[in-house]
Amino acid sequence: MSAITVRVPAKVNLQLAVGPLREDGYHDLVNVFHAVSIFDEVTAAEPGDVSAAAPPLTVRIEGESAGEVPANDDNLAVRAARALAGHAGRSYRADLLIRKSIPVAGGMAGGSADAAAALVACNELWGLGLPVEDLMEIAADVGSDVPFALLGGTAVGTGRGERLSRLETSGAFHWVFALADGGLSTPRVYGECDRLREEAGTDPGLPVASEPLLAALREGDAAALGRALTNDLQPAALSLRPSLAHTLHAGAELGALGSLVSGSGPTCAFLAASETHAAEIAAGLKNAEGCRAAVTATGPVPGAVVVG
Ligand code: C5P
Repeated sequence: MSAITVRVPAKVNLQLAVGPLREDGYHDLVNVFHAVSIFDEVTAAEPGDVSAAAPPLTVRIEGESAGEVPANDDNLAVRAARALAGHAGRSYRADLLIRKSIPVAGGMAGGSADAAAALVACNELWGLGLPVEDLMEIAADVGSDVPFALLGGTAVGTGRGERLSRLETSGAFHWVFALADGGLSTPRVYGECDRLREEAGTDPGLPVASEPLLAALREGDAAALGRALTNDLQPAALSLRPSLAHTLHAGAELGALGSLVSGSGPTCAFLAASETHAAEIAAGLKNAEGCRAAVTATGPVPGAVVVG
């Protein structure tokens, strides 16, 4: 094979319970991940330039927000491909092409998704045949959200979010995502969360999974799921980007079953009762303050898969 293309979904966090800051700079989480039908595609191809001077891994980005993604060694897909080559103990070459639809720095794990897709694509291109368990381990070293992008579906992540257990769900849930102008830096939002807690003198304690949320997922009860959505990073995201309060309010006014900031934001997520309801909310959100565009999606969907 001279080129492999992998499709990979965005995620929304249905519960993001954040514990105290750990000594290693991370936070212990209970993180309920849900993969939704907004996809990036990553193609790994045998390199055009095979001269000794050519870099072993190159990356190009296409799509609306391509200019906001680093097209160098800092790119998470490149870091993942390098980690995979390191694991295999040999040098490998590939040209990566990322077609972006997932909002950049939007709280939907777009960079992590591209890293997961690069792992699957390069594993195939280089004929490594590594099992998914090995890819999951490499993924966890690249970033806390990368293992989930491999797995997809709905899952609870503990530790820093990388230790995953699949969750049982029924049916499909209908979502609307309000995209904002510009991104938010994940470390900055976690830092703001710590600062706000210190200022208020609150001790977060150890995070615990929400039983009502897990029951709503099992039963496919969208109304109950809407009531159970929580995100401990939301006050921090709102503190850094106050206009998001208007977006959340607008979605609630439009009858969303639940509204929350997705992960570290600034994308806001709204749960709808049906596909038609989702289209209505999306149409209404287009004029909301702080909302650049509104897109509909369903979840859960599978993780990274080879499509060509
Ligand atoms: O693991 P990843 O590199 O994606 O995390 C990005 C940043 O998000 C970390 O450097 C840290 O600041 C923050 N983070 C955290 N606790 C977690 C996951 C991420 O504080 N469980």
